Amino acid sequence: MCGIIACSGVKCAAKVLYRGLEDLEYRGYDSAGISVLEGDSIVTVKRKGRVGELKKGIEGMCGTAGIGHTRWATHGKPSDSNAHPHACGKFSIVHNGIIENYAELKAELMKEGAVFFSATDSEVIVHLLCKYYRGDLKEAVLCTIERLKGSFALCILCSDYKGFVAVRYRNPLIVGMGGGAVYAASDMPALAGLAENVAVLKEGTVAFAVDGEISFCDFAGRPISLTFSPVPASARSRSLCGFPHYMIKEINEIPAAVKNTAAAFEETDCAAKLFRLAKKSAFTQIMLCGCGTAYHSALSAAYMAEELLLLPVRAETAGEFRYRKTSVNRSTLFIAVSQSGETADTVEAARAAKSAGAYVIAVTNVPYSAITAVADMVVPVCAGTEICVAATKSYCGQIAALALTAAALKGPAEYRRAAAAVKSAEAICAKVIAGCFSEDAARACASSAAVYFIGRGADYPVALEGSLKLREVSYIPGEGYPAGELKHGTIALIDGGTLTVAVITEKKIGEKTASAVEQICSRGGGVGVICADGCAPAGLKERAEFFIEVPACHKFISPLVSVIPLQLLAYRTAVILGRDPDKPRNLAKSVTVE
Ligand code: G6P
Repeated sequence: MCGIIACSGVKCAAKVLYRGLEDLEYRGYDSAGISVLEGDSIVTVKRKGRVGELKKGIEGMCGTAGIGHTRWATHGKPSDSNAHPHACGKFSIVHNGIIENYAELKAELMKEGAVFFSATDSEVIVHLLCKYYRGDLKEAVLCTIERLKGSFALCILCSDYKGFVAVRYRNPLIVGMGGGAVYAASDMPALAGLAENVAVLKEGTVAFAVDGEISFCDFAGRPISLTFSPVPASARSRSLCGFPHYMIKEINEIPAAVKNTAAAFEETDCAAKLFRLAKKSAFTQIMLCGCGTAYHSALSAAYMAEELLLLPVRAETAGEFRYRKTSVNRSTLFIAVSQSGETADTVEAARAAKSAGAYVIAVTNVPYSAITAVADMVVPVCAGTEICVAATKSYCGQIAALALTAAALKGPAEYRRAAAAVKSAEAICAKVIAGCFSEDAARACASSAAVYFIGRGADYPVALEGSLKLREVSYIPGEGYPAGELKHGTIALIDGGTLTVAVITEKKIGEKTASAVEQICSRGGGVGVICADGCAPAGLKERAEFFIEVPACHKFISPLVSVIPLQLLAYRTAVILGRDPDKPRNLAKSVTVE
């Protein structure tokens, strides 16, 4: 899981690649590297750590074509030698993906005399290129690809070729052109400041970029054509706009994310399409899948949809779903949720559901992503580019899109109710962001040895998301738990050094959650409460170290409102502890490997 970039026909390739890598850094920040073609030779600089580590090394590098990489380590620890590009003979390569048969290829190549310098799976690619190169670059690339099993987006430099070669198989790659130069990158925003027109490479495409021109062929070498279109405006907004971090900037963009998602739902006529689909297909079950935050919004939607549609509705993490025998079939509606639309487990889960006969809907923030090619229908999330690794505005956009989806499946009247609720969310979210946060809450979190989050019913997925957010950005251990389950295990961990945050947005259920709070207080544990206006059982406020009130709102939007104080809590706690909330250790924004 990494970010890759390439350029040809620019004034100074190293500078262009460095800037592009800064944009791609959210995809991994264990190491970074750049190779540039200087005359007839390839010059490479690579370093463990963030992209910034390259700055000194690339000074003085000239050359008009090159490739770059920012790494999230899978095979081999973060180090200078495991950093990409990997060079050998006339070649240098950068790779995003996994080569599943690398061990047998490596053994074969070593037998033939190849010397390896890294512990990565990727290095076999460059040795294969050397092995198959007899002066015909296309032939060497195609022979190499034929030997690879797994997933790969590649950019290749060859000292006999003045441009670069790009290859896409199951990992994203976009090519761009502009001002006489040609580019490739793992995502659109990295190309936004460079290219004028872009095209998403199709599965199984090789691109040859040289002299301001680009041509394509499939893996059998047959020429193919691609249509270029202007870089979308949504890919261009990368500025912090005066905020200290992307995480807080993106939390402040939640109202717009919800509003734009609802508008896109309307514009793309999703409600009518879904209603027709439900009538025609008579689904007997709905299955939702996602990973991380997307799984939590899927779980929220499962609670919502089951109550509305009175059908069996389940949510599962995509990584689990993929490897299980399930009851998914032609009567199943399968909804895959993914901010990036690239998460390997989610894309593969959608593929598996589709081949089992299910109708697949993708709910995604990236309209050109891999998952959209798999899905039968796309429900857009319009949160705008999300840069902070921890998802915030995309979660709220997903909840809005999923609530509208569930309601539209029920029928036009329910959809109108949901649309009205989502419309009201813009102002409610803005009020919550502006008003209801207490710094004491973040201080209580920051000084706790562990923080647990509990909730019942619709509040349970929100508790899971609150816990994930805090763990991601503050590294404080803890977990999210169903309030009723606490006494069956996790209560053993409660003592004076722990804090438990209870989420309560429904009065009746809140009374049950409040009894879990009592049990925690009796064991000396600290308690904080996020509570919808008017839902607090008597005495709860007095028990709590902090009590944050959010407006009571419709169940369609409640999970996207009550999560905001939890996102702010995670953010402020991370800042108090001196963490980098935008790039937490060991994480990457989209995980394009299993
Ligand atoms: C990674 C990120 C999470 C994210 C998850 C799913 O693990 O660190 O923040 O929720 O991937 O990403 P997706 O793009 O599929 O929503």
